[in-house]
Amino acid sequence: AQPRGMTLRARPAKVSLGRRTVSTWTYNGVVPGPSIEATAGETVRVPLINALPANTTVHWHGIRIDPRMDGAPGFSQEPTRPGERFDYVFRVPDPGTYFYHSHVGTQPDRGLYGPLIVADPREPLSYDQEITVLLDDWLDGISGTPDDALRRLNASTQHDDTLRSAVLGGVAAEMHHPLYLINGRAPDAPATFHSAPGRRVRFRVINAAADTPFRVALGGHELTVTHTDGFPCKPVTVDSILIGMGERYDFLVRLGSGAFPLVALAEGKRARAFAVVRTSRRAATPAKDAKVAQLTGRMLNYEDLRAPRADQLPRPSRVVTVRLGMRPSGNEWTLNDRLAADPMRVQVDRGETIRIVLDNESPMWHPMHLHGHTFQVNVNGLRGPRKDTVNIKPRERLEIDVLADNPGEWMFHCHNLYHQEQGMMGALGYGPPPRRGTTHTGMHRPAHKRTH
Ligand code: C2O
Ligand code: CU
Repeated sequence: AQPRGMTLRARPAKVSLGRRTVSTWTYNGVVPGPSIEATAGETVRVPLINALPANTTVHWHGIRIDPRMDGAPGFSQEPTRPGERFDYVFRVPDPGTYFYHSHVGTQPDRGLYGPLIVADPREPLSYDQEITVLLDDWLDGISGTPDDALRRLNASTQHDDTLRSAVLGGVAAEMHHPLYLINGRAPDAPATFHSAPGRRVRFRVINAAADTPFRVALGGHELTVTHTDGFPCKPVTVDSILIGMGERYDFLVRLGSGAFPLVALAEGKRARAFAVVRTSRRAATPAKDAKVAQLTGRMLNYEDLRAPRADQLPRPSRVVTVRLGMRPSGNEWTLNDRLAADPMRVQVDRGETIRIVLDNESPMWHPMHLHGHTFQVNVNGLRGPRKDTVNIKPRERLEIDVLADNPGEWMFHCHNLYHQEQGMMGALGYGPPPRRGTTHTGMHRPAHKRTH
């Protein structure tokens, strides 16, 4: 069969966020990037052409992928230089809702992300329509670039009380991200999804934001959650979901007749992203600040999620703890007290299952993401669904069981882009750590490129 996929050209472009136009970095001139679609078991081929003035990569978030195609610079592949091209070719083993994004610095916060939807050849759910929803927080071209924001955060010290308390309180996001987007549209000119009354719709919600968890609800409707991070859970019906950066949720909705607000409230703040789901031409368009009762109703918790019986990983044979911490300066984030420059590394043997206790000692949420694998969440001794990203509450712990079935040297990090860039990047690796400059995938750096 012909591989699926399309060429992605990473390039600067002007994009419209609704009423406002900004100059930013894009895939193929649009934010979000184009939807890449395939069926589980197929091969996807995506040539990346780097027309940016910087190195870049594409990471296929959530895919159990060949490590050489993971887009993880410094781990398993070299970044693609300006003017160069890299052909991503990989098999997609599992159906589900995924996304892709640059894995270099703060580039995803400039708009370098898009959906990756993998259909199930034996789809067990029945529905009439799919709607893919990408959530984002936006600053580029509005209050400096993401790199400027990072520099400001890094320049802050504990003597700078305003910024420090902003960082600690999570208000930094609101300072730096004055706009919240759904599918690249700000609330003043929202995306509209057209459907028909009575239709059963599968929503695929992806949080592609840099540092904003969202609470998501659809006015007038309950949500029946069926999947998280691509994998099925036992269906559970709620009013709203909380989705951390890097997480995905699929839910089914039977639509009524009218025009309904789809709202993503930036967690802990007043600002929101907003879109409209319309099944009737005549219904009045809801206001961007429309009251949505579901936002204060029953919210999905990990405690509510159960794995289907057929989808259990083997029991773990040992336990390791990873502490999520913060240095007193407030602008260095650590895993087991270590920063990315000298990373924390969890070592596994092929075929084993280990339990990782994620112990959040800090006052902020951390959506921890593991590359190349799925894991099973363990909540109060009950086995939750498979996921690849878990959002850990301030001062709480969460256990995940990881099946080591994809040898390589893998990133294991906080998906808050600013935490990641301020040190919160570790590794999961098979066997002893690789020598510097080499990886487990055999991609030795050519000797003539060594500088010493
Ligand atoms: Cu979505 Cu390491 O990232
Ligand atoms: Cu974090």
